[in-house]
Amino acid sequence: MGSMEDLRVTGCTRCPKLVDCRSQIVNGTGPEDADVLFVGEGPGAQEDEQGEPFVGRSGSVLDDQLRIVGLDRETVRITNCVRCRPPENRDPTDEELENCREYLETEIDRLDPEVIVTLGKVPSEHLLGRSVAVTKEAGSVENVRIGGTPYRLLICVHPAATLYDRSQEATFEETIERAADLAGADGSESGQTRLDGF
Ligand code: URA
Repeated sequence: MGSMEDLRVTGCTRCPKLVDCRSQIVNGTGPEDADVLFVGEGPGAQEDEQGEPFVGRSGSVLDDQLRIVGLDRETVRITNCVRCRPPENRDPTDEELENCREYLETEIDRLDPEVIVTLGKVPSEHLLGRSVAVTKEAGSVENVRIGGTPYRLLICVHPAATLYDRSQEATFEETIERAADLAGADGSESGQTRLDGF
């Protein structure tokens, strides 16, 4: 796939309501050969202002936990299902998710990560293509085809969930720990394992 620039979406106007709301398009951040790709729902106010995913309160929760498990923010890739802030932080609609899907698939294809970690219900359901009970299913790993290619997907609660429900802290921490373990597995070997029986 082409140059680094291709992963940066510029000037997209597919979602009229999001175009009205956004101050800028928030593209993914982090190395293009990262082993771990975190996928959130969509930019919030801080992200819209700064042009980077997970830089607000949810971002600090994520950063803290990444540091604890030895996965520095600089070494992972972080992106969202939609790249423009929805009004009043509502969930993106199915149509908006669909409009942005191509950008996400291109990013996943380029990275070819060891593991995709979905942060919350929206990205988990979007990439698994089924309904997900995130709190119950957090920490489980599934094989999923995205754009025809098999990937390992780790379901995680949204970092913000830990802010309003303390009981989710342990779940979040254990899941990020698992992400680090999966990423730490030997690249070539885990690449093989990933395809076994799939
Ligand atoms: N929540 C998300 O889902 N994504 C962000 O970028 C920030 C908060």
